[in-house]
Amino acid sequence: AYDASPFVPARAKLPGLRRAAAECRGCPLHGPASQTVFGAGDAKAPLVLIGEQPGDQEDRKGHPFVGPAGHVLNRALEEAGIDPERTYVTNAVKHFKFEHVPERGKRRIHKPPNLRELSACRPWLAAELALIDPEVLVVLGASAGKALLGSSFRVTKQRGVLLPCPAIGDYQGRGDCLVATIHPSAVLRADDREAVFAGLVSDLRVAVRALD
Ligand code: URA
Ligand code: SF4
Repeated sequence: AYDASPFVPARAKLPGLRRAAAECRGCPLHGPASQTVFGAGDAKAPLVLIGEQPGDQEDRKGHPFVGPAGHVLNRALEEAGIDPERTYVTNAVKHFKFEHVPERGKRRIHKPPNLRELSACRPWLAAELALIDPEVLVVLGASAGKALLGSSFRVTKQRGVLLPCPAIGDYQGRGDCLVATIHPSAVLRADDREAVFAGLVSDLRVAVRALD
């Protein structure tokens, strides 16, 4: 099975994990992508946000949430009163998965990761969470939700309430500390952007209230 575990160094801190992740060959997604996009932010962050996978711009720049979805996320964090300096952002999958659609020329079109890829990459997420052990975890969208809570996860049913943080790998989990919400790119795709954005902010406020 696809699995990042053989590439994850024991006892490494975040910088060591980041260096090792650059060499990960745990699943086929490293092939077409430009580089590994590891998590970024405060190593002692009380709040960790987990997206799906890097997008086109993240793949080029090597940093999570620096494209259009990141822009929406930052606006939502600001509106919810979260200081981005006190967060760590990462993704369930660390390589950009895409396809070329002939009608769209050179553009690389995002494809959602499947369960095998989500589970292959989960050891990196587990290692990040074990080190940071945040007070609150925000899961952005279905892929991140499935990576943490299993394949039966449904954003529409589970968003905006505090759920237990599950143990994965070396991460021990915690009592009610996880808030699921939509992926910020859903705001960009929505007909009613204002309402969908307001829903994202309202879920993020649940996370803020759970912080000390
Ligand atoms: N979407 C994600 O899920 N993560 C990113 O880093 C960028 C876009
Ligand atoms: Fe490794 Fe994850 Fe990249 Fe697959 S997507 S090669 S498991 S870092």
